[in-house]
Amino acid sequence: MEANSHQVSKNQDTSKLEIITPLFYRFNFTRAIQIAMAKFNKLAGKHVLVIGGSSGIGRGVVEGSIESGARVTLSGSSPQSAAAALSAIKSSYPDAQVAGIPCDLSKDSMEEDLEALFGEAEKVQPIDHVVLTAADPLLISDVQDITLDKIRRVARFRMELPLVLGKVAARHLARSNGCSLTISTGGIADRPSPQWSIMAFVAAGITGLTRNLAVDLKPLRVNAVEPGFVNTGLWASTGLTREQVATQVKAVAEKVPTGRAAEVEDVAEAYVYLMKDRNATGEIVKTRSGANLV
Ligand SMILES: NC(=O)c1ccc[n+]([C@@H]2O[C@H](COP(=O)([O-])OP(=O)(O)OC[C@H]3O[C@@H](n4cnc5c(N)ncnc54)[C@H](OP(=O)(O)O)[C@@H]3O)[C@@H](O)[C@H]2O)c1
Repeated sequence: MEANSHQVSKNQDTSKLEIITPLFYRFNFTRAIQIAMAKFNKLAGKHVLVIGGSSGIGRGVVEGSIESGARVTLSGSSPQSAAAALSAIKSSYPDAQVAGIPCDLSKDSMEEDLEALFGEAEKVQPIDHVVLTAADPLLISDVQDITLDKIRRVARFRMELPLVLGKVAARHLARSNGCSLTISTGGIADRPSPQWSIMAFVAAGITGLTRNLAVDLKPLRVNAVEPGFVNTGLWASTGLTREQVATQVKAVAEKVPTGRAAEVEDVAEAYVYLMKDRNATGEIVKTRSGANLV
């Protein structure tokens, strides 16, 4: 039976540190530490769904959530990628409560596919927090090369998906400030760069969407993380060679105040924070190596 740590008898000599419980057992120091830890250990026992948790930043969020005591369900674009991620995570965290579910979000059936993902994930435990990091490669293009097809391609993962996800999450998560949806944007939202007009457009749009969903879905919390450059497979999938990625990592490290390019375990902290802080909604948390300062 759980001890109620707050019920200390007024008539007691508190130096004896006894606690009134139905069983009247003596104060247990380990138990007191566990209760104290519950104040900040807010993800313990919660169920986190990471859409895009198979690799990159999402994989970092999966690992950060597991290390915070959460049950995690990750999704990947294919059965192979979801299974490979699950197997790697299980070998790093043998005791973790973790599942992997494939969900290809590139199709017009996105809403039904998300429904199926949520339905499968919540069979084991209701979902408390949803993180979206799934995205296709970046599209960097000279203005004269922009076409409607390109604009629509970018919109799939960076306009349609976060919006439809907000709709689906609202049907599955409790309307509680203890639950959250955290989506992803990028530093280009604040800082223009040649040939990045399409990406800047959608990244800035996600900040507006985040604030509005926070109002539409209240008291369920909705936030976004805005990373700067992070060393993930995104850059190779966008078309950079291994050497070009290495050059970019070096150039970032030489320029930014932190002196290094971010790794996923750095920016994953921002997602973990936003899941835990019941006071944060409509916020864009920026983690960008100080790149905005130089
Ligand atoms: N990396 C950066 O420098 C950086 C900077 C700013 C913002 N961001 C943003 O942060 C987010 C995550 O970036 P990242 O670097 O982690 O990317 P990443 O390493 O390329 O990972 C992308 C994730 O999306 C999933 N995905 C791709 N196609 C999918 C599909 N058709 N259906 C379902 N899932 C699919 C991938 O799953 P599979 O592996 O299973 O295919 C993978 O889990 C993106 O929105 C990105 O724009 C990244």
